[in-house]
Amino acid sequence: MLNLVIFGPPGCGKGTQSTRIAEKYGLMHISSGDLLRNEIERGTDLGNQVKQYVERGLLVPDGIILKKIYKNAIRFIHSAGIIFDGFPRTLIQAVMLDTFLQKKELKLNLVIHMLVDRNELFKRLTGRAEDSGRKDDTDQIFGVRMRVYEKQTHCLKEYYSGQNKILQVNGMAPVEEVSAKIVRAIDHYREKNEVFSNVI
Ligand code: AP5
Repeated sequence: MLNLVIFGPPGCGKGTQSTRIAEKYGLMHISSGDLLRNEIERGTDLGNQVKQYVERGLLVPDGIILKKIYKNAIRFIHSAGIIFDGFPRTLIQAVMLDTFLQKKELKLNLVIHMLVDRNELFKRLTGRAEDSGRKDDTDQIFGVRMRVYEKQTHCLKEYYSGQNKILQVNGMAPVEEVSAKIVRAIDHYREKNEVFSNVI
């Protein structure tokens, strides 16, 4: 199996790149944000529970998201692999994902860390606000999402660097160029069992 995580600030291209990588390698794509938005749209109990967090740009409590992710991931443990998009987002989630995979005698192979500067992120998210209909794509909530990322999620870089799994990707280039770099790094990893240590 090829199991990947992609993380980075809001609007860095996690969803865009995950879809492309999943298609290229035949992976299952688990997007924590999409799972939550789907629950909210359907007005389920879970949706009602998480709505207040998602719309305010805050993280849903770990216990809730972990349960939802396990339930989805378990269906895919015999697949070619999984790309986790937007999960984990806290240190606890990262540790719990490792534990979950170990119990299934699986492991995380690579963690893609997307680097995009703040002005570009703001431009992308406010640019898509009208079409996305997402209540969290506003100027004010963008600021909250950035702070949450810096405080609660950025620490994953250190966690996964300690495991030698971090692949840092400059996500400022056009979509196709970013995808090509990621594919090159994944292929290199699969051939040589080695992760590029520089930002690509
Ligand atoms: P989530 O849906 O994960 O939101 P996010 O991290 O803020 O990321 P986005 O989906 O906005 O952006 P993205 O990085 O996927 O970029 P995209 O490809 O869409 O989470 C939403 C909320 O759910 C959270 O705030 C939280 O409340 C909750 N949540 C989710 N996971 C959780 C967890 N694990 N724990 C607790 N709570 C959780 O691209 C953005 C735009 O840019 C698009 O318009 C795209 O077309 C464009 N674009 C992409 N790449 C490029 C490029 N290279 N050049 C130009 N434009 C580009």
